[in-house]
Amino acid sequence: MEKKKFYITTPIYYPSDKLHIGHSYTTVAADAIARYKRLKGYDVMFLTGTDEHGQKIQRKAEAQGVTPKEYVDKIVAGIKELWKLMKITNDKFIRTTDDFHQETVQKIFKKLYDQGDIYKSEYEGWYCTPCESFWTKTQLVDGKCPDCGREVELTKEESYFFRLSKYQDRLIKYIEEHPEFIQPVSRQNEMLNNFLKPGLEDLCVSRTTFNWGVPVTFDEKHVVYVWIDALSNYITALGYMSEDDSDYKKYWPADVHLVGKEIVRFHTIIWPAMLMALGEPLPKQVFGHGWLLLEGGKMSKSKGNVVDPVILVEKYGLDAIRYFLLREVPFGSDGVFSNEALINRINSDLANDLGNLVSRTVAMIDKYFNGVLPEERQSGEFDDDLIKTVMDVAGKIDDMMDKFQFSNSLTEIWRAISRTNKYIDETMPWVLAKDENNKSRLAAVMYNLAEGIRIISILLQPFMPETPEKIWHQLGIENGEYTTWESSKTWGIYPAGISVNKGAPLFPRIDIKKELEELEKGIEQKPSDNSRQNKGEAKPATKKEAEKSIGKEKELITIEDFAKIDLKVAKVLEAEKIEGADKLLKLKLQLGDEVRQVVSGIAKYYSPEELKGKYVVLVANLKPVKLRGVESQGMILAASDDSNLSLITVDRNIGSGKTVS
Ligand code: ME8
Ligand code: MG
Repeated sequence: MEKKKFYITTPIYYPSDKLHIGHSYTTVAADAIARYKRLKGYDVMFLTGTDEHGQKIQRKAEAQGVTPKEYVDKIVAGIKELWKLMKITNDKFIRTTDDFHQETVQKIFKKLYDQGDIYKSEYEGWYCTPCESFWTKTQLVDGKCPDCGREVELTKEESYFFRLSKYQDRLIKYIEEHPEFIQPVSRQNEMLNNFLKPGLEDLCVSRTTFNWGVPVTFDEKHVVYVWIDALSNYITALGYMSEDDSDYKKYWPADVHLVGKEIVRFHTIIWPAMLMALGEPLPKQVFGHGWLLLEGGKMSKSKGNVVDPVILVEKYGLDAIRYFLLREVPFGSDGVFSNEALINRINSDLANDLGNLVSRTVAMIDKYFNGVLPEERQSGEFDDDLIKTVMDVAGKIDDMMDKFQFSNSLTEIWRAISRTNKYIDETMPWVLAKDENNKSRLAAVMYNLAEGIRIISILLQPFMPETPEKIWHQLGIENGEYTTWESSKTWGIYPAGISVNKGAPLFPRIDIKKELEELEKGIEQKPSDNSRQNKGEAKPATKKEAEKSIGKEKELITIEDFAKIDLKVAKVLEAEKIEGADKLLKLKLQLGDEVRQVVSGIAKYYSPEELKGKYVVLVANLKPVKLRGVESQGMILAASDDSNLSLITVDRNIGSGKTVS
């Protein structure tokens, strides 16, 4: 019989300079499902990838003096390495810069145009010439460009539009008739009430103001804008509209698109409308998970590091991190990440409950039976209740996994672990061991412990890529007939007469107080660098990014902390551009009778001429660094957000070199 197929996707990731632990959330969850489905015997297709086009990427590449492709290549290599480190078992990895993807996007665009679902019109907006950006009226700030604050002009840009409005009624009907389509249910109501019912507008799907994108074949000054390029990945990866579309025929429609809640709208409105227009079936489900936030305030100065998945995995081990991500927060809700919560989970759930159960059991079999368990079965009150609980858990997991209830599944598995630990307390093997007459009872107890652990280890496989194998080694069994998913549903198939192997503790306990102190210290000394992903980036714009998605509050500092920073008024004597670095300016600053050279990332916002003579504020005791090979002796202060920047100046002439406090 042919295997049943299961197609699961994550979103394609923006090549951000640095991924934080929140990013790995979607991927780890998708991996758990993919592993579970494979264990259940499905033919799984698990797709992830990267979303590499757009003006933002083009600009970042320009600022670094590299081509957009060079820029994304480096980052994408880092992302792939991260997924390898996290043992993500994706079957394909798609990049929107892949030739086959771009070709299919062009075909899709052309088809939709030919059939009248895409039409040419004008995109009206307020245009900021220096920023080359269009804004809608509501985006303007006091009628000015929200990026640079300059005047904007009401302009029309030629653009192609997708007839999204045409699909509104069909979408409403589809969603209402398929309650399983958008999960969790709350997101379904949000889509219907906030977006679909108030009415859809046609969607701008091309741009002429930048060129880092898929060119529109029949009108080459346009590139495909965002969604037709990005969303199509789910079918282009399967060979849709290509010579070999066998994967498409086999795997489409997707069983589930797993996405963060902020992009549910695109996946449940734009994407199905596109598929309707193409005459293709819709994905069976879109599941919108919540966000992982960082505990407000704690360790804020080091957020970049604390949430670095590479550092976390290296420090605590992959299985601990994956366990935490899937256990701590019910999938669908927002949750908080903190080192303290992570370490607590490691100590209590992993080291104490699971780790101890395994090491105690193996040690006892080793001690009482020379490591070889005799065949011996007995039933009694404790035995029956143990077996009942473990079997009950094993029987419930599939249903919960099918609903992506990872946290509940793990809670259930831990119910089996606790029950098994309790069985040790109840049967008191060390007492039985004192009397030779109890040898057979002791053997039965050991057998039940080993069998309970075998079943638990099988159920852990979707979540933990490393631990089950380690447990099997200790139990003396190999990955095979005793470890299949199905074999977890039957009690009593652990083979007696085999040798167990004492091994290292699965999860060493962590001294939480010491660890938190070290983390704080380590982070201050070691600047955030995310080495695997971020080689050669001059300045991580990413700390800000991490702070944004992960919470903003800072911890309180004392006046002494503040006094460590030497702030001085400095006068700009000279400013000049730095070859090959569009973002940076080299400044000569006067500081009393001292002159300093400082490199600052303000080139996009200030011309060298307008800076001359300005009094700015300098962090004067910052360790010198080299930026693009040029030494910077301090940092000047500016207020900024993603797109706007204003230097901090003094509002009366007080002279350079004066202290700011
Ligand atoms: O949205 N907590 O890409 P992306 C939980 N390219 N999940 C988080 C998170 C956090 N703190 N931060 C990010 C895009 N994510 C588009 C998608 S699909 C056709 C195009 C999740 O790199 C986020 O919710 O911004 C999303 O699921 C994934 O990381 C990629 O986000
Ligand atoms: Mg995003």
